[in-house]
Amino acid sequence: MRVLLTGGAGYIGSHTALELLGRGHQVVVLDDFSNSSPEATRRVGELAGQEVPLVRADLTDPEATRAALEGIDFDAVVHFAGLKAVGESVAQPTRYYRTNIDSTLVLLDLMRERGVTKLVFSSSATVYGDPRYVPQDEAHPVGQALTNPYGWSKAMIEQIITDTATAWPELEAVLLRYFNPVGAHPSGRIGEDPSGIPNNLMPFIAQVAVGKRAELSVFGDHYDTPDGTGVRDYIHVMDLAAGHVAALEHAAPGVTAYNLGSGTGSSVFDVIRAFEAASGVAVPYAVVAPRPGDVANVVANPEKANRELNWATTLTLEDACRDSWAWQSQNPNGYAAN
Ligand code: NAD
Ligand code: WQD
Repeated sequence: MRVLLTGGAGYIGSHTALELLGRGHQVVVLDDFSNSSPEATRRVGELAGQEVPLVRADLTDPEATRAALEGIDFDAVVHFAGLKAVGESVAQPTRYYRTNIDSTLVLLDLMRERGVTKLVFSSSATVYGDPRYVPQDEAHPVGQALTNPYGWSKAMIEQIITDTATAWPELEAVLLRYFNPVGAHPSGRIGEDPSGIPNNLMPFIAQVAVGKRAELSVFGDHYDTPDGTGVRDYIHVMDLAAGHVAALEHAAPGVTAYNLGSGTGSSVFDVIRAFEAASGVAVPYAVVAPRPGDVANVVANPEKANRELNWATTLTLEDACRDSWAWQSQNPNGYAAN
């Protein structure tokens, strides 16, 4: 398959590009580099032993996107492009809705014009909102009482893709609901490079361990969980990347949603301990007030993906900490010159 990766220079896109190349597929990366660097794609090419075609375009701009992709053929798309910071989405709702929704509308029109029918979309466990039960399967209600524009944009895009499939029955769309992606390629050459202060737990811990930040704030230790801290389903980004390849290879007409998670929950203290063991570096922390909007426990039921995509996680939280540390310690300033 020749696969267009929108947002393919980003964290998950760069690992998926490498995985697709390793399985004999071809890739084209389209990105506007609003939250990434072309260096990530260059390194993917270095690891894969082949140059990766890179197209710079803002996917919310239909004319610019059409022009940039002229003469470039592809028969499937993985749509990663979008903005993803939950807190920022509360402060800048119109920017989030415009980027996430418009980019999807432009992409769907372009796919239809070109007769490209295979689509894998980066959705999120955030579409389930406050869990009614744990572990969550795909039958859990979606798009109810979500707490931020980022989450709403993902639920809306799932609906837009579903409505498009009704009007265009040839569309083969897969909605991948990621739980908490962590880790890096084991080489340490590519990884997560957040701009500014990391919002997510693992990159924050990695920056404390490497000495860029003094201590981690643990957001609450009075949740109804075994040690009182929040529990999440952390999934190694290389397992996540393999899930995209499986989704592309199993896509069928209509729209199908899959959870991509491990089925195992880990607390904030579990992650701190695993990172300390993997890195050999102490991670100082202080317990502070809970973060508004956080929930106690989010864990995937991944059985549908296990069964239908013949996919399951193979890597552990310890593997993710080891690989995240390899990336962070070799690239303390991310893709910027060290
Ligand atoms: P990322 O920010 O590293 O990657 C997104 C990429 O999209 C970036 O390279 C950015 O430059 C690009 N982009 C943004 N707006 C664009 C536009 N208008 N035109 C072209 N490119 C544009 O984020 P990521 O962690 O790799 O996430 C990828 C996708 O997965 C996102 O859609 C995100 O919402 C979703 N997701 C991420 C997580 C997570 O925790 N990382 C969890 C669930 C879902
Ligand atoms: C994990 C745990 C925090 C930072 C978010 C989005 C979700 C998805 C993944 C895109 C929680 C605790 C965190 C810190 C902490 N993204 N924590 N100190 O909130 O599960 O999910 O990213 O779709 O939509 O909401 O991930 O990594 O921010 O937090 O104690 O500095 O770590 O309270 O229990 P979260 P996270």
